[in-house]
Amino acid sequence: MSQSAHAIVVGNEKGGTGKSTTAMHIIVSLVRDGRRVGAIDLDARQGTLSRYFSNRARTAVRRGVRLPMPEIAAVQPTDNPDADTRKLMAILENFAPRLEFVVMDCPGHDNPLSRLAHNFADTLITPMNDSFVDLDNLADVDPETFEVLKPSRYAETVWEERKRRMLRDRGSVDWIVIRNRLSQLDARNKRRVGDVLEKLKDRIGFRVAPGLSERVIYRELFLDGLTLLDVMDDDSGVEVSMSHIAARQELRDLMDALHLPAPETRSEAS
Ligand SMILES: Nc1ncnc2c1ncn2[C@@H]1O[C@H](COP(=O)(O)OP(=O)(O)OP(=O)(O)O)[C@@H](O)[C@H]1O
Ligand SMILES: [Mg+2]
Repeated sequence: MSQSAHAIVVGNEKGGTGKSTTAMHIIVSLVRDGRRVGAIDLDARQGTLSRYFSNRARTAVRRGVRLPMPEIAAVQPTDNPDADTRKLMAILENFAPRLEFVVMDCPGHDNPLSRLAHNFADTLITPMNDSFVDLDNLADVDPETFEVLKPSRYAETVWEERKRRMLRDRGSVDWIVIRNRLSQLDARNKRRVGDVLEKLKDRIGFRVAPGLSERVIYRELFLDGLTLLDVMDDDSGVEVSMSHIAARQELRDLMDALHLPAPETRSEAS
């Protein structure tokens, strides 16, 4: 990919951890800030991200409002992985010189498209639910002491792609694990998972950023293709609650923690 767009990849080789939800909230945050974004759905068979943005486009027409949008692309995996990866490369070649960010939403399992995306990531975001089931995907943890015994499958995948990337262009990835659907209630579990992540982060090479709590507002606007950011600032008639305000703050904290390139920096660099 000719260098210019910053590639954000949302990945985890585990289903249902909040990849698509995280991807769409990051994309909408960016486009609402006037950033030029390409969104690539690499889980096009399921099509959550594609569907979300087609819902958004429909809502804009139905309500006669302008909703900022990314450029959208999707790759459907076929039984010809070489053709699939060529298709993704062509999309990246098209987006990279014109846009500031390319955000790729990966499927919840390993496949050649997901591998390629991980290889191109400048920022890799891995959402996980706050449980030892999800942690198991990152590391094998001693059940008595919670000591980290060894990295697990997904951590190995990221490691391999990091090495390949280093060989290809000496680039490096900022890998960020975020805890999604954090519960306000389960303080003990939250602390234990947090402790293990702390032990794990230097060994495996990621950092931990604040994630999103479990909130209805993160899922109830899907059919309209909206986020809380859209409905809090317009006259859509949605009553703004304390939960919305807290959610907006969480999302801002997440965006800040990503340390993405600022507009001036990028335009100076390009
Ligand atoms: N912070 C949250 N609060 C409430 N619900 C959430 C949150 N994050 C995700 N969800 C819900 O959890 C489910 C799984 O989320 P999502 O589809 O984003 O995960 P995914 O990792 O993309 O899944 P897949 O691996 O199947 O692609 C969805 O029903 C989504 O609406
Ligand atoms: Mg998904």
